[in-house]
Amino acid sequence: MPSSRRHPRYLWAALLILIALLTASCYPDNPQSTFDTSGPVAQSQLVLFYWIFWAAVFVFIVVGTILMYITIKFRRRPGDPDPPQTHGNTPLEIGWTIAPTLILAIVAVPTVITIFDNLNSPDPEALTVDVIGHQWWFEFRYPHPDGESTIVSANELHIPVGEVVNITLDSKDVLHSFWIPKLAGKVDLVPGNKNRMWIQADEAGEYRGQCAEFCGVAHALMRFRVFAKPRSDFDEWLVAEASQAEDPIEPLAQQGKALFEGNKAQCWSCHTVGGSSKSRGQVGPSLTHVSSRSQLAAGVIENTQQNLRQWIEDPQSIKQGTTMFRDAKIYSDPNRKLSDAELSALVAYIQTLK
Ligand code: CUA
Repeated sequence: MPSSRRHPRYLWAALLILIALLTASCYPDNPQSTFDTSGPVAQSQLVLFYWIFWAAVFVFIVVGTILMYITIKFRRRPGDPDPPQTHGNTPLEIGWTIAPTLILAIVAVPTVITIFDNLNSPDPEALTVDVIGHQWWFEFRYPHPDGESTIVSANELHIPVGEVVNITLDSKDVLHSFWIPKLAGKVDLVPGNKNRMWIQADEAGEYRGQCAEFCGVAHALMRFRVFAKPRSDFDEWLVAEASQAEDPIEPLAQQGKALFEGNKAQCWSCHTVGGSSKSRGQVGPSLTHVSSRSQLAAGVIENTQQNLRQWIEDPQSIKQGTTMFRDAKIYSDPNRKLSDAELSALVAYIQTLK
């Protein structure tokens, strides 16, 4: 029957397409490829991956070859009598107990060593950044150079290149997972149970990060970026990040600030702006330097004037589920809906927060 013969051909085609798609994601030029590592943590994990991969290939080839040989050589032929019946074979049984033990040891020893190397920082005194997961964005806390206070930022992690950076991981709400494919494998953010890891970027530049633990409706849009830069640039950035927001000079931006801190838009109730006595909210990311970030909405859209406006006007259209205006009456209550002029003012103010 032609249909039964055509059936496996479709299966083969589907399988080939699937393999092509899966291997395309391994292409090292992808921004989130784990095969193009930069730094000792990701590198050690890639070495471990290859170690286990080739051990598995070895097992597959040996077992597959023996199986094929035996299947063909000892297959039943017409007229064959019953094969001789045996019970037990001590050398064989010892052999197939020892061989898997050796293979497991070959896989287990480097795995355990890598796990401990990746957990224990080679420089516990190095810069430590506290990462806190929120639905659906990342908060980053750096120690202030004065040694007393903390610098709070979000969604863009800045680190000095070529240096160990220690990271503690915590969550405000549900499980998240911190993953910078080119720098380090995933580590979970567990509410109330601080995990730790360390990273080191060997090349300056931008690295993509992504939440890697399903954490609700906007999980796929919980992204972040890492900027590795020379030490002097990093120190400069840290000082700038520690500074308070300056009062806007332009009238439109001043109007925007009044709206931001007013009871119509109520931005202040969720967001902090350093230096403002009113904006002290802790629900959303700190906005003190939001306009110096390259992205908005946790790595979802470029930080442009137009995108910022759309984000404020209708955040759910960009990131469904986001807490921003989710429960507010800002759409249903005509007295609260922001006019075009008010949106322009808010955007003008937020763009001064550099
Ligand atoms: Cu946070 Cu997924």
